Amino acid sequence: MEQLRIPGPTPCPNEVLQVMSRQMINHRGPQFGQILTDITAKLKQLFQTKSDVFLLTGSGTGGLEAAIVNTLSPGDKVLSVSIGVFGERFGAIAEKFGAEVVPLRFEWGTAADADAVRRALKAEPKIKAVLVTHNETSTGVTNDLASISSIVKEFDKLLLVDAISSLGSINLPVDDWHCDVAVTGSQKGWMVPPGLAMVSVSQEAWQAHQRAKMPRFYWDFAKAKDYLEKTPAQTPWTPVISVFFALQVALDMMLKEGLANVFARHARVGKAAREGVKSLGLSLFAEESHASNTVTAVAATDGLDSKKLVKILREEHQVILSGGQQKLDGKIFRIGHLGWVTESDIKVVISALKKVLPQAGFRSS
Ligand SMILES: Cc1ncc(COP(=O)(O)O)c(C=O)c1O
Repeated sequence: MEQLRIPGPTPCPNEVLQVMSRQMINHRGPQFGQILTDITAKLKQLFQTKSDVFLLTGSGTGGLEAAIVNTLSPGDKVLSVSIGVFGERFGAIAEKFGAEVVPLRFEWGTAADADAVRRALKAEPKIKAVLVTHNETSTGVTNDLASISSIVKEFDKLLLVDAISSLGSINLPVDDWHCDVAVTGSQKGWMVPPGLAMVSVSQEAWQAHQRAKMPRFYWDFAKAKDYLEKTPAQTPWTPVISVFFALQVALDMMLKEGLANVFARHARVGKAAREGVKSLGLSLFAEESHASNTVTAVAATDGLDSKKLVKILREEHQVILSGGQQKLDGKIFRIGHLGWVTESDIKVVISALKKVLPQAGFRSS
């Protein structure tokens, strides 16, 4: 069987796949309303929030756009904390909609320095919001969001979080860490196909929404709330119904396992991936103190042709890994380990790597 070990889309359990073959239902009828209400309540548990949570049909990037356009106005100053490809994307969306973006960039492979965030907020008192990626999928680094959040709130700014590849896999207590909007995507740790962005919206974000002038239609949180409160509960636009069926089953599986156990499993699997690659003589790309439990980025050193490696793994071992993005193309490869994954899945990847590394030019020193 193919081992899909990219950082999303991730494999779906059989129970999830089966329910997706169900016949379509009326998305304005009571059956869908019951599913939407149930999923929303369960997502609040997994986001660890009492605030609003909305399910937006679209990919994670749509959720990031929603976070921006619902809380900001053209000309607003925002601090964009970036440690990789997705941090850059969040800032680029804000810029596209007319925000004045103050970039705060850190070397790829490292985490954001909370003290630098403090200095930036001190230097630019007009900043309204801080954009930050919790888990940077392109580099395999998890930011210390708790520390960053406490500084952002010391300065009383809005905190908009890309938690696309962390929520549901790595601990992120949305209320305790004062995230005003936190965004995730269904194809990541949630064990369901792509198609949904899930977002939480705090009271402060709603206050910002009242003043926010950026253009929005499809992504308007007010419309999502209005339709969720109807009887039966609905979404404003036609939702990706099959993924709702899937998510209901997947959330039950996650809650049955228990949130703490889900996080602990990801921590074990992340450690197994890091120890496994190091045992083969490979080096981690990410600084180990902030290495992610959902994706491991491995440096292509010692003659390793990472593109050849990924190709041979796919063609001869049915193990699917990711390469590097943008300036990391050819410089790293990535193992995704989020969602429906155990340590034995990682063992399969590591033993395939062991066979293929010499074929891809790697000379262990
Ligand atoms: C951290 C992060 N942000 C944003 C995205 C973009 O999500 P999507 O491809 O669902 O639009 C991804 C997807 O890989 C991601 O990992």
